[in-house]
Amino acid sequence: MTERTFMMIKPDGVKRAKIGEIIRRIENKGYHITKMKMVLPDETLLAQHYAEHVGKSFYPSLLRYMTSGPVIAMVGEGTNIVAGWRTLMGTTNPTKAAPGTIRCDLGREWDVEAMMNIVHGSDSVEAAEREIALWFDED
Ligand code: CMP
Repeated sequence: MTERTFMMIKPDGVKRAKIGEIIRRIENKGYHITKMKMVLPDETLLAQHYAEHVGKSFYPSLLRYMTSGPVIAMVGEGTNIVAGWRTLMGTTNPTKAAPGTIRCDLGREWDVEAMMNIVHGSDSVEAAEREIALWFDED
């Protein structure tokens, strides 16, 4: 089924010049990027994006990580892209991600405490719509 999802290249991916490599993997898989922008997220946007994590012990380090530089926000479209993009990314903890995944192959200077993991992808179709509306200001 054709779906859309919200995809992000986090500050470590941008700083380490992995934008092209990550987009190459997205497009090689057959997904289409229909919206894309570079943005320096502020705390207000992040508190909405990470609403389920606000108040958790790792939230302050997550905020520091995510405000440390610009990110690439994207909307992707494709067959079963919500689950498929998460498979391409690999597990949340990059030290445990399987070979062949972005988080395994492109992660090098991890801050495991902050769980720097290069990319983000929505975890459900509902979350994707919520995140797309938030980042791209849609009705
Ligand atoms: P992501 O799954 O994209 O969204 C939540 C982020 O919080 C996660 O990636 C990590 O970057 C970060 N994070 C930091 N510590 C943790 C943790 N203990 N568990 C889950 N996510 C964490």
